Amino acid sequence: MISIRALVHRLIPTTPTVSFTNQAAVKGQRSYQQQFDAAYQHFRHSYPAYDSTHKLDRLRATEYARLDQQGHVYLDYTGGSLYAEAQLRDHMALLSSNVFGNPHSKNLTSLAMTNLVERTRDSVLQYFNASPDEYMVIFTQNATGALKLIGESYPFAPGSTYLMTADNHNSVNGIREFARSRGAAVRYIPISAPELRVDPQALTDALEQAHPGTNKLLAYPAQSNFSGVQHPLEWIEQAQAHGWDVVLDAAAFAPTNRLDLSRWQPDFVDISFYKIFGYPTGIGCLLVRKRVANKLRRPWYAGGTISFSSVVADGHYLTPGWAGFEDGTVNYLGLPAIECGLKLIESVGIETIHTRVMCLTNWLIDQLIALRHRNGRPVVQLYGPANMDRRGGTVQVNFFDANGHMIDCLMIEQLANEQRISLRAGCHCNPGAREAALGLTNEDLAPCFSKKDQLSFEQFLHAIDGKTTGALRASIGLVSTFADVYAYVQFAKTFMDRTL
Ligand SMILES: Cc1ncc(COP(=O)(O)O)c(C=O)c1O
Repeated sequence: MISIRALVHRLIPTTPTVSFTNQAAVKGQRSYQQQFDAAYQHFRHSYPAYDSTHKLDRLRATEYARLDQQGHVYLDYTGGSLYAEAQLRDHMALLSSNVFGNPHSKNLTSLAMTNLVERTRDSVLQYFNASPDEYMVIFTQNATGALKLIGESYPFAPGSTYLMTADNHNSVNGIREFARSRGAAVRYIPISAPELRVDPQALTDALEQAHPGTNKLLAYPAQSNFSGVQHPLEWIEQAQAHGWDVVLDAAAFAPTNRLDLSRWQPDFVDISFYKIFGYPTGIGCLLVRKRVANKLRRPWYAGGTISFSSVVADGHYLTPGWAGFEDGTVNYLGLPAIECGLKLIESVGIETIHTRVMCLTNWLIDQLIALRHRNGRPVVQLYGPANMDRRGGTVQVNFFDANGHMIDCLMIEQLANEQRISLRAGCHCNPGAREAALGLTNEDLAPCFSKKDQLSFEQFLHAIDGKTTGALRASIGLVSTFADVYAYVQFAKTFMDRTL
């Protein structure tokens, strides 16, 4: 087997002919600058809305200077967004000028903390325009923690159904284990290439199939973390009209789109805050519509979740509302940083971020899919929509050499690293989208699960006969600039006319 490193040397000359990053540009490559300036002028002409987003350039220059100082081209916003220095300053100033104790007691320092935690809860409701009469906020460790709360508490039982789109993060797929273990039916609605969307008729059929009068849960991502597809929010009302409860996984959608919970009212929404504003990690939330909260049954209780429990009498009362779901001590010193992050986004405006992301994504897709080897073969294959209709800023591709051979996405990620470009290679925890994109069939994958012993990754590769396991994701976000996507396109161009 040829090592990645050996492959790299066969594919790419050791001295690339084009420079990619700001750092390389600094090395006196005037032509790079001139070409960049011309491309930028052309881009601004083609996307006039971009000029309305210049406050993001100021923000990047002041609050994110570390990116350009260190020559980073960051294109992994769906992995995690980046924090402004002001968020750190505001959070540290708050902590260093106050005395905070563990909340939920009546002493002074505890009360001060409880007030801040509750203020944060209110600010999350406000940010998503969610009425406190309609929704409650449960703080969790991340989006996954929020989804797990649904899985373990939803009243799955024989006769009930858990329905998902094939396009889902593993943390949504994983709920099927709770559903199955309690006798519920588990179903998927397929997605099809090349756009990796759901056929609306297949959704309608699946919604109509389930038994009336049973508990039925539909889960889908508002934006795919694999393809960037934005599945319709209209499905929420359609499913609810058929008696379904709806989980809207907003982890990849919320960072660059307005989620207005006065307009769209899913029963559950999961969020990871670092994906919106970078800091802090380790805090997410589950927004639960109060009308379904009473259905949920926690499988256990813990410190922080009960109003009363007894060892002698062997009983407990769960605290009603969000408190019954927040196990143990919440990340109370971290929580006020959520308010700092939300303030940052509000100071720029999510619509401004959205506009910029749409302009840059459109340009990037057009450039990448237009790249051709001299023999006319395409350099990249895009997985997902090739235009901006109902999609977000995630651009998933594989690269092909001039003979049409796919180049291992892990190798491209490594080559991008050498240019300080952060892309992400793999399946991005979304096996259904990967399988639809790469055409992996049940026959391809069955050998992976036929043996009693768990396969290692190498054995897995062998089992699928050396087929590729993933793709390369660029994701555009909060402080992306034209220079970032331009650098990626220049990097992509270096694969033209190369053979493995
Ligand atoms: C669409 C989607 N859902 C859920 C998750 C899980 O988020 P976390 O790992 O922060 O729990 C992710 C993470 O990438 C995601 O992209």
